[in-house]
Amino acid sequence: DKMEDGMGTVKQQISRLFKNSLSAAFPEESSVEPAVAVCTQKSGDYQCNNAMGLFSKIKGKTKEFKSPNAVGQAIVRNLPPSEIIESTSVAGPGFVNVILSNKWLAKYIQSMLLDGIEKWAPVLSVTKAVVDFSSPNIAKEMHVGHLRSTIIGDTLARMLEFSNVEVLRRNHVGDWGTQFGMLIEYLFEKFPNWEDIGEQAIGDLQDFYKASKRRFDEDPSFKERAQLAVVRLQGGESRYRDAWKKICEISRREFDLVYERLGVHLEEKGESFYNLYIPKVLEELTNKGLVEESEGARVIFIEGQQIPLIVVKKDKGFNYASTDLAALWYRLNVEEAKWIIYLTDAGQQMHFQMVFSAARLAGWLPKDDNETPKVTHVGFGLVLGSDGKRFRTRSSEVVRLAELLDEAKDRSKAELRKRLEDNGKLADWTEVELDQTAEAVGYAAVKYADLKNNRGTNYTFSFEQMLNDKGNTAVYLLYAHARICSIIRKSGKDIEELKKTKSIVLGHADERILGLNLIQFAEV
Ligand code: ARG
Repeated sequence: DKMEDGMGTVKQQISRLFKNSLSAAFPEESSVEPAVAVCTQKSGDYQCNNAMGLFSKIKGKTKEFKSPNAVGQAIVRNLPPSEIIESTSVAGPGFVNVILSNKWLAKYIQSMLLDGIEKWAPVLSVTKAVVDFSSPNIAKEMHVGHLRSTIIGDTLARMLEFSNVEVLRRNHVGDWGTQFGMLIEYLFEKFPNWEDIGEQAIGDLQDFYKASKRRFDEDPSFKERAQLAVVRLQGGESRYRDAWKKICEISRREFDLVYERLGVHLEEKGESFYNLYIPKVLEELTNKGLVEESEGARVIFIEGQQIPLIVVKKDKGFNYASTDLAALWYRLNVEEAKWIIYLTDAGQQMHFQMVFSAARLAGWLPKDDNETPKVTHVGFGLVLGSDGKRFRTRSSEVVRLAELLDEAKDRSKAELRKRLEDNGKLADWTEVELDQTAEAVGYAAVKYADLKNNRGTNYTFSFEQMLNDKGNTAVYLLYAHARICSIIRKSGKDIEELKKTKSIVLGHADERILGLNLIQFAEV
């Protein structure tokens, strides 16, 4: 927090006032930082919670204060005069409640309106970040878990970008690993002329994956060839590299269609990208004495963990963890990111804790979590169907994201059509307009439903709920926005002109609540 006076979030500004008050009232306790929070009671907008703690610190040293409440009174008496504060009160054991001045609130909102919301972007100590999100696996399903990762990850990336952080949006796709042996062998077997055929000929990659897996499980000679194919691919044989590329390319097209529909931008740096760096990184970790032999594998033991982190498998192959160590090394040293954020379901928490611990042992990361560079695993709960089990569709066992987005769009289009019909207005709309609106509403509904649910817990996917036009949904928000636009349009006034010539007045109690929420934008 390196802010000049009169700058920063409202909370920072109020904290500054209390800092002054605390050091005036209790000069001996200069280390006490103001504890300011949004007030949960009606009696205030913000509150300062220092009195109780201070009281127990000083009661042995001075007789001046008989209770925490008296400490609270002293804090209030020493507050410097400020246009921000309308009134203060001291509650119970010294909680200082602050009510903000209506005039100041209105002034603050007016300047947000005139200067643009960008001016209130939080100031962060980090300048460059990696957000590792979405990250589906080639040829396997891109499922609702990846959808959550995509939506939450994009949102975090947007918030950081809004706060003037340079963000590397990384799609850490699973494009490397033993499954490629069987995929490539199956491609050779099924399509001898695979080099010349278009992607469409191969058809659905998930079906292709399943079929190759069946071959792998049933035919020992196929299995043997598949295992050999992995070795040849990793050895860089061109025929195998080309086949691998072809398979990745098909997956990528499918993924991109989903990203395009969601309006999410990502840059792919898949697992294969880091493969090259693994040996060097493991050598460094070995030289630092972190890697040991255990039951034929090479592992890193981490204090407090029962099982070690395996970094080289028994068969000498690298794995998910070795790739993540190399990726972390690359992001810290080559990309020089100061904050690296990973989005996966909560089930991978242990994996990331171990990778982070290994990096800390290696001295790549500071011991103190608050110092940079820092790493964060943002885990999330599962998406459930109405039956309380993992979300599935009628048609297939897994939910294909494209189908899910289709359904969101179709449902919102049907509803839109019905309403226009009821109002006799359907004829005014072109098919393109219907489609565009249905897409905006349908996809937003999916995103918003995900974001409004608690991130950490499982949530139940329901088209009915997310497309409800009356609840806390994207449909309602978009409706409110469209209405506001229409009010402005119908006023016949120029909005820029209005902004400059009219001043904001918070007359009604609801307007004040709205105003308070607006000014808390940056701190939220
Ligand atoms: N591909 C993984 C999965 O589908 C997610 C990768 C997350 N990122 C990472 N650096 N490990 O579960």
